[in-house]
Amino acid sequence: MLHRATATTDQPHGWQDYVVPQNWDAFTADDHAVWDLLFARQVQLLGSRVVSVFLDGIDLLRLSHPGVPNLDELNAILEPRTGWRTVAVTGLVPDDIFFAMLSERVFPVGNFIRKREQLDYLEEPDCFHDLFGHIPMLANHDFAEMIEHVGGLGTAAIAAGRGELVARIYWHSVEFGLAQDGGELKILGAGLASSFGEAHFSLESDSVERLPFSVPRAARTAYRNDVFQPLYLVSDSVAGTVGEILATTPEALLAIE
Ligand SMILES: [Fe+2]
Repeated sequence: MLHRATATTDQPHGWQDYVVPQNWDAFTADDHAVWDLLFARQVQLLGSRVVSVFLDGIDLLRLSHPGVPNLDELNAILEPRTGWRTVAVTGLVPDDIFFAMLSERVFPVGNFIRKREQLDYLEEPDCFHDLFGHIPMLANHDFAEMIEHVGGLGTAAIAAGRGELVARIYWHSVEFGLAQDGGELKILGAGLASSFGEAHFSLESDSVERLPFSVPRAARTAYRNDVFQPLYLVSDSVAGTVGEILATTPEALLAIE
């Protein structure tokens, strides 16, 4: 899910209330063909421009299997590996629900896929963004632990009225982060890995800023979710950013001005 800063829900609830059946049988032949088209196009576009952990995850989870992935089949591989599982939702979920899910190693996946007429324009993230962009990274044990930790940080930050701190950290790493990997600048974030237009732009444009990632810098850096990013934060390494986020306590986070 392309996470964004939104108001939290005001009624008592649990994240389970947002889960719906994936209803995989309802995907049409054209839906599956759209997945195959997006997958083939994006793999070719990315080539080796994405961190190796991502490419490993594509293979480990057999995401190249044709058609929209069946979440039950995906979970049968993912859950024994890292304890993460996917659940279907109808669209963006509120931030507090989203972070609560992450803190329990549950990742929400839209139960729909874009239409052929809108391959490159999405009003909200569909299952291609969620599954192709995010799930490969959850097959990595360290990244899997980090995302769970982000869920806990998010819950704590929202409780303190500072949810934007974690939304920004998530945005500048998990969604739109870049990283040094194997001696080269690579795509780290799911928003970039799943984007046809912004993937190359993020690495190659001369008109954007690229600054080193740190938790305090990310937490202080606002973002927009409706345009290509004017600024990307670059991790020294995937492991370095994972370690820095894992070492961040709620107290340290909330001390960031
Ligand atoms: Fe996302």
